[in-house]
Amino acid sequence: MIESPYLKQLMNKAAENVKTIVLPESEDNRILDAAHYIAEAKTANLVILGQKEVVADYYRAKGWTLDGIEVINPETSDKLQSYADMFYELRKDKGITKEDALKQMHNYNYFGTMMVKTGDADGMVSGANHSTADTVRPALQIIKSAKKGRAVSSCVLEVVNGKPFIFSDCAIVINPTAEELADIAVDSAQSAMNFGLTPKVAMLSYSTKGSGKGEGVDKVVEAVRLANEQLKLPEYKNFDIKIDGELQVDAALDAVVAAKKAPGSEVAGKANVLIFPDIEAGNIAYKLVQRLAGAEAYGPILQGLNAPINDLSRGALVEDIVGMIAITAIQAARK
Ligand SMILES: CC(C)(COP(=O)(O)OP(=O)(O)OC[C@H]1O[C@@H](n2cnc3c(N)ncnc32)[C@H](O)[C@@H]1OP(=O)(O)O)[C@@H](O)C(=O)NCCC(=O)NCCS
Repeated sequence: MIESPYLKQLMNKAAENVKTIVLPESEDNRILDAAHYIAEAKTANLVILGQKEVVADYYRAKGWTLDGIEVINPETSDKLQSYADMFYELRKDKGITKEDALKQMHNYNYFGTMMVKTGDADGMVSGANHSTADTVRPALQIIKSAKKGRAVSSCVLEVVNGKPFIFSDCAIVINPTAEELADIAVDSAQSAMNFGLTPKVAMLSYSTKGSGKGEGVDKVVEAVRLANEQLKLPEYKNFDIKIDGELQVDAALDAVVAAKKAPGSEVAGKANVLIFPDIEAGNIAYKLVQRLAGAEAYGPILQGLNAPINDLSRGALVEDIVGMIAITAIQAARK
């Protein structure tokens, strides 16, 4: 069933360090199918939130076993109250009551996120049936940014003719400031390294090295400066990350165009990480490449959180979900 060589590679990488990933959406057969392929390949251990009999019936009908899969019903779980108590402690300064906290734990995305918070799971994948906001909000409230004050963002791992690229931010930070765009570039470079890439990060615009003018160009130019400043910090000393811009996408990807428009750039013509000036450009671009070029698209993958929680596109296919579970396990192993 799993055909993509790149996806098999991701699954093998995840299997090197088996992690436990929670899947809150047992009502969706795509989730149950993906869980089977992951468990069968021993890519990760899984916790599915839902009713055990319903999941077991589905698997029995398919001729599959539940080996490597635990089914937990949050409604009857003895963890429900302790998760609610912990959530109350985390959020009481925001005005939440104990009753509200318990009510929230009946929402499986909140229950699953508390599993990750407490270490009962290493990561979570949701969003096949929920909006990005509903999947991501519990993560932002409970798991929080790894670095205080730094925006959590996202990237998509897009595989075009077998070649992987990182696209960012396609899903979270709607209209980033220059500072946020710089953070997105640096965090995307780290995501690229998680997937074995040596990051060459292009900060995209409608202008290449001053060819066009406008506020948007100024923002990207400033973001390039700030991102390169960050790379001087000791924590990035041992990494081979190159960030350049502002670049048009043809100059970023095509060596011939790059030689004309951005000669001497260490990124132009060789970019494998594409940073878009805002979420509109990023979201449209990744879906265009997926639909028109037939690329595999895994994501949005959240970056900058304390523990991996990832969102699915509601149009995700079973293979996409398998990929996201493997990616989440790889992120958990890197933590
Ligand atoms: C990510 C997103 C859902 C957060 O918005 P929201 O749910 O309204 O969040 P709120 O503003 O209520 O913030 C909730 C908490 O998350 C924090 N937060 C919000 N965005 C954050 C970010 N990017 N990084 C870190 N923390 C963030 C807030 O500070 C707040 O924390 P607090 O409650 O502890 O004070 C919002 O940015 C969004 O809708 N983005 C676009 C999603 C989308 O439609 N994507 C396209 C489809 S893939």
